[in-house]
Amino acid sequence: MSNPGIPAAFSPPDRLLLGPGPSNAAPSVLKAMQRPLVGHLDPTFIGMMEEIKSMLRHVFQTENEMTFPVSATGSAGMEACFVNLLEPGDEVVIGVNGVFGARMCDVAERCGATVNRVEAEWGTIIEPSTIAAALEGCQPKLVAVVHAETSTGALTPVEEISRLAHDAGALFLLDTVTSLGGCPVAIDAWQVDAAYSGSQKCLSCPPGLAPVSFSPRAMNVLTNRKTKVQSWYLDVNFLASYWGSERVYHHTAPITMNYALHEALRLVLEEGLEARWTRHRQAHETLKAGLAKLGLSIISQEGHQLWQLNAVGVPDGADEAGVRARLLSDFGIEVGPGLGPMKGKIWRVGLMGHNATPANVKRFLDALGQCLG
Ligand SMILES: Cc1ncc(COP(=O)(O)O)c(C=O)c1O
Repeated sequence: MSNPGIPAAFSPPDRLLLGPGPSNAAPSVLKAMQRPLVGHLDPTFIGMMEEIKSMLRHVFQTENEMTFPVSATGSAGMEACFVNLLEPGDEVVIGVNGVFGARMCDVAERCGATVNRVEAEWGTIIEPSTIAAALEGCQPKLVAVVHAETSTGALTPVEEISRLAHDAGALFLLDTVTSLGGCPVAIDAWQVDAAYSGSQKCLSCPPGLAPVSFSPRAMNVLTNRKTKVQSWYLDVNFLASYWGSERVYHHTAPITMNYALHEALRLVLEEGLEARWTRHRQAHETLKAGLAKLGLSIISQEGHQLWQLNAVGVPDGADEAGVRARLLSDFGIEVGPGLGPMKGKIWRVGLMGHNATPANVKRFLDALGQCLG
């Protein structure tokens, strides 16, 4: 076997992460990860887990007892919701207006469910009337939509969709990966039965944890399943015992990631949810005004544009990938490319959590102006 040699210790460059995620973590969050390790059943760690649960409930705006972080990324949060709530043969209605709605369909199909896709043009929202039309032709167990579509920058209002789902006797599932901590998310007021998120977006924590929340109605469904949950790791019946008062060993929680989330949530509470949302809105408005001065605009549906993820139209003749590469190499700024039908047509500019500041908006606009000449 050839000897690969020992590489130098990895020394990452200092980037301003203005893409679709991860966003930069707050300095105190990174510092928290350097604290000494304790065991995952250490009484001090268990005390911290309780604080994480209670802070998450506040950020999700819910009283749901079953609110905790899954030890994996946002996609595992998505998968945890679907594999626990669906059984083979169940029907679902899923809104698809971007990459993540499509991913939900794939996950639901792998659970053996029959999927009714409600498609909307990328960049637009899922209209309640289209969900209502789909509900007329089926009796789903679940209706699911993505709140903040990171691939297109559209924010779908969900209260009406939730009402339609419940009127049809279905549970309502919401992806809050990009919305949580950056704009209002009200799990109880909107009667969301299952929600998942990710640590690396507006919570400004590294990627690696997926906060989830299940309503008592969802818990009733998943504890009365006829079949075993097909994923051992994501079975909420086990996770409930691990994160609940019994503390039954299930897996070894990633200790330092939980330190990070604890600190990140503390920062959210310290700032206050309303103030945090306002800061995101203001950063978006400042960006939008600055883009207009450069002759650029945000292409997602007017009136439903995300504050924390801005889909900036690439002007005719500009080299989409070249500009992104130069932003990174010359200015240390990462922005994201368009995906699917948006490939080559947009830059995805994230102003998430810690990064949603006037100084970052100015730094980006100055750099973009120079790249576009
Ligand atoms: C809306 C949405 N859902 C789900 C995911 C998947 O999360 P992760 O990449 O952390 O697995 C993402 C990631 O960008 C997302 O933006």
